[in-house]
Amino acid sequence: MAEIDKKEELLKVSDEISKCFECPLSKTRTNTVPGEGNSDADIMLIGEAPGFHEDEKGVPFCGAAGKFLEEMLAGIGLKRDDVFIANTLKCRPPENRDPEESEKTACRPYLDRQIKIINPKLIVGLGRHAVSTLMPGAGSITQLHGKAVRRPSGQVYFALYHPAAALHNGSLRQTLIDDFKKIPPIIEKIKNEKLKMKKEDNQEDVKQQKLI
Ligand code: URA
Repeated sequence: MAEIDKKEELLKVSDEISKCFECPLSKTRTNTVPGEGNSDADIMLIGEAPGFHEDEKGVPFCGAAGKFLEEMLAGIGLKRDDVFIANTLKCRPPENRDPEESEKTACRPYLDRQIKIINPKLIVGLGRHAVSTLMPGAGSITQLHGKAVRRPSGQVYFALYHPAAALHNGSLRQTLIDDFKKIPPIIEKIKNEKLKMKKEDNQEDVKQQKLI
């Protein structure tokens, strides 16, 4: 899909989210927080749910955790606008309580549509809720953090500790910073694999042409 079409499709999803009343969080939200960033991003970062600041502004990761996330992005030469940032839930749970299963289920189609439109090379799950939503059955965040996993769909996922949790825990913070630095070589590997597959496809085409 061309980038301009991706932008348009993402706007449609955001518009639908702004009118969503599929779960009770729609009654307590100030703003919906659909997500934002590069519609043609190689990397999608998915957090848990909007917090106080996000609900106030309608912007994901705009508080202290967001500032830390931006610092880690800068550490690998990226800006916020280079990636797409979203959450598993598009509305804030009251008092930042954990998302409920029914809320996750109601909100999931929006995230799935965003992923399909952007078609990122890598989906990064931030924190245990995002990781269990994105990679069900793959393991706990303690087992999975810092590892790239290709799921049966072919999509590659990468699990990280949540920046908010790491902010208040020194050893988690360093682990998160170290894990984050693994992102560029993973992207490079995925790009090289795609190139190799394309080359093999082309060779297959040539073979088929000869056969015909
Ligand atoms: N924590 C999240 O998981 N998402 C946000 O957008 C902000 C904080």
